[in-house]
Amino acid sequence: MALLMPQVVGHRGAAAHAPENTLAGIRAAAASGIGAVEVDVKLTADDALVLIHDDRVDRTTDGSGAVRAMTLAQLRALDAGAWFAPAFAGTPIPTLAEAVAEILRLGLRVNLEIKPCPGRERETARATVAAVGELWPDDIPPPLLSSFAEASLAAAQEAAPGLPRAVLMDEGTPQDWLAATQTFDAVAMHGAARSWTATHVTAIKAAGLACGTYTVNDPDQAIALRRMGVDYLVSDDPAKIAAALSAG
Ligand code: G3P
Ligand code: MG
Repeated sequence: MALLMPQVVGHRGAAAHAPENTLAGIRAAAASGIGAVEVDVKLTADDALVLIHDDRVDRTTDGSGAVRAMTLAQLRALDAGAWFAPAFAGTPIPTLAEAVAEILRLGLRVNLEIKPCPGRERETARATVAAVGELWPDDIPPPLLSSFAEASLAAAQEAAPGLPRAVLMDEGTPQDWLAATQTFDAVAMHGAARSWTATHVTAIKAAGLACGTYTVNDPDQAIALRRMGVDYLVSDDPAKIAAALSAG
C-alpha cells in the first residue's frame, strides 16, 4: 500500500510547542522537519469550517461558549494562543481553508479529523469533503479523513467515496476494528496507543490496512509501537518522537 502518512504525524499541529489547531502549530511541525499533521475540524453556527478540538472554546481560547452556537465572526474575535504562551497572543482560530493553504504551502500531508459538535456529525463531514474538493489540487495526494463518529464516516463515504478514510477507536477487539474499517471502506485504523496489541496489528495488516496510533509522546512507547508494526504515530512532540525512532 502507498504510504498514507509518514512515520510521525504532529498532533493538532505540534501541540507541545504551539497552540493546538492553529497555523502556528502547523508551522511548528514543518519547522522541525515533520512531514504531516493531524488537525480537528468543526462547523460553526453559520456553517463555516474551523480547526478546534473541544465542543467549547473555553480551554483553548480566551472566550467561553459552545462552538456550535458561535458564528465564525465570534470565533475569530477570540485569542487562541495566549492561553498556551504569551508569545502566541493574538493567534486566531483558523478556518479550514486557511489551514489547508498553509499545509499545501509547506508541502505537508494531513489527517483531517472530522470532530463534529454533538448532533452535527453528518453535516460536518459533508462540509469537510466539499471543502477538500474545492481546495485540494488534483496533483497532490488527498488528505486522510478520520473520525470517531460513525455518522461522520458514513456521510464522508457517501459524499466522497474516493477520499481515503481512517476509523478512529480507543478500545475494542481486532474483530471490532476490522468490522468498523469494512463498514466504512476505510484504508486505515487509528487506535489509541494503549489499545494496540500485536494481535490488533497482525489482524489489521493482514486485511491490507494501515495502522496509525495516537497520542504517543514517550520515546520508548514509540519504539515499541513501531516494532509491533504500527505504521505511524501521532504525537504532540513529533520531532522528539522522530529523533527517538531514528536513534532506536
Ligand atoms: O486523530 C488522533 C487523535 O487526535 C484523536 O484524539 O481527542 O486528540 O482528537 P483527539
Ligand atoms: Mg484529533
